[in-house]
Amino acid sequence: MQQEYAIDDRDFRKIVELVMNTAGIVLSDRKRPFVQSRLGRRLRALGMTDFRQYCRLLEAPAGEAERSNLINAITTNHTSFFREPHHFSYLANAILPKLATSEAGQSRRLRIWSAGCSTGEEPYTIAMTLREHQSALRDWDVKILATDLDTNVVAHAAEGIYDSDRLGSVPPSYRERFVTELDEDRSRMNDEIRSLISFAPLNLLQKWPMQGPFDVIFCRNVVIYFDKPTQRKLFDRYADILKPTGSLFIGHSESLLNVTDRFDLVGRTIYRRVK
Ligand SMILES: C[S@@+](CC[C@H](N)C(=O)[O-])C[C@H]1O[C@@H](n2cnc3c(N)ncnc32)[C@H](O)[C@@H]1O
Repeated sequence: MQQEYAIDDRDFRKIVELVMNTAGIVLSDRKRPFVQSRLGRRLRALGMTDFRQYCRLLEAPAGEAERSNLINAITTNHTSFFREPHHFSYLANAILPKLATSEAGQSRRLRIWSAGCSTGEEPYTIAMTLREHQSALRDWDVKILATDLDTNVVAHAAEGIYDSDRLGSVPPSYRERFVTELDEDRSRMNDEIRSLISFAPLNLLQKWPMQGPFDVIFCRNVVIYFDKPTQRKLFDRYADILKPTGSLFIGHSESLLNVTDRFDLVGRTIYRRVK
């Protein structure tokens, strides 16, 4: 039987503070069993006997790699292909045709950011949607940036290999066109789709190396773990890096109400920059 490690108040507070300061993720007291179980695996991997020893490592200069492992262990990476499918319909049927005929579209340049991309299902869904509707984008320079703070999920995403049963939500015609079966259990996104996306680790709370401007940002199911001041700062930065009428998609349980007035709601969890 696997050993269960108990975490006392002092060590729990330390971890809560470290996670908040590093990733902006708020861990309430209710999350204590979750923290104990997720980090219990790290303690076992390190051959440690208790959380006190683990916290000492986190605080030491030599603990940098483990601080990253801690964040990777705490993040919730749940995602799927075509999650919240109305966003992709809106991208294809409202944003692309409008861009193609607008003055902004004369540059024939489209930049989309999937911020908090997890294992890549979101940016690959964006890429498939763009390819499927490429007649609106003939000869366009199209690039998708996909970033996440969790280095493990970014590596998985960049590989583009998925258990075949995860592809159930991809329409069969898309699967046929954009995905190759590697064997009975695994499939890989085709080069045509992978070449549209650049994957990179990025903590949204830190400095962003890219300048934009982006036409569209997907930041879905990421800020639910952030407190309001952190959300406010982040959405302000999104407005700054978007084009003046750029679009922002957020998750089904998220809202910008009382967070920022720089966006107008234009559809279900779909916003347009106005300021
Ligand atoms: C639940 S997943 C959402 C994935 C995808 N956007 C979707 O909606 O299906 C949330 C992702 O946000 C990432 N995340 C959390 N805090 C972050 C931060 N401070 N910077 C960048 N990514 C972060 C997590 O690592 C996780 O992969």
